[in-house]
Amino acid sequence: MTFLPGPEHVAIIMDGNGRWAARRGLKRTEGHKAGAKPVRTILTAAKKSGVKYLTLYAFSSENWGRPEDEVKGLFELLLQYLQSELAELMEKGVRLLAIGETEALPELTREALSAAMELTAGNTDLTLTVALSYGSRFELARAARLLAAEAVAGKISPEAITPEALSGKLWTTGTPDPDLLIRTGGDLRLSNFLLWQCAYAELYFTPTLWPDFGEEDFAAALASFQQRERRFGLSE
Ligand code: FPP
Repeated sequence: MTFLPGPEHVAIIMDGNGRWAARRGLKRTEGHKAGAKPVRTILTAAKKSGVKYLTLYAFSSENWGRPEDEVKGLFELLLQYLQSELAELMEKGVRLLAIGETEALPELTREALSAAMELTAGNTDLTLTVALSYGSRFELARAARLLAAEAVAGKISPEAITPEALSGKLWTTGTPDPDLLIRTGGDLRLSNFLLWQCAYAELYFTPTLWPDFGEEDFAAALASFQQRERRFGLSE
């Protein structure tokens, strides 16, 4: 499959694992397991299509409220992914980053994540950012708090608190804003994901459940992006 030139940064809300499992009479955890496969497929497709940044919403701040075994299963899955895919990430030249309250993650997952980030730090072909225990409002409040502390300490003036300064305190600092946000699973909302960073992102919603999302679905999202006219608030 060939791709036209497309977005530099694609962010994805990977939704629908639970429904995928329920339709097959399986436990939700099985749906998440099935959801690990498209991660591999889409990473490959993204690299082939020239995407430089791929950001995946793997676990939201709100997901802590799910049943304990589902949460445990998700972190075990992430650990397995990090162990089994590390060689592939290196081979593909992928740098791994994480955003979110990662200090809240189980210790083994946190250690594997740090080790993988360290090992892949020099890779430059594509940056894969995994959002874990991530919530956009918390991220924004945290950034405001950091700037406020600097202002109170007299290091900066309140006038220095600009959009650029705030961007600089977000977990995503250093990564350009997403050009395209994809959400699978049919819901038409952002669910507290990259609210600031997606100010000008093109949005693409598909009813396809995440475990069924394949290379052709990704190509369809990129094709849709390429047909849009991006004006960034300007008249033409
Ligand atoms: C939403 O589906 C999905 C999640 C909460 C977890 C996403 C995790 C993966 C795809 C696992 C693999 C990830 C990596 C990075 C290896 P849902 O459970 O809310 O589905 P539902 O809306 O159908 O209930």
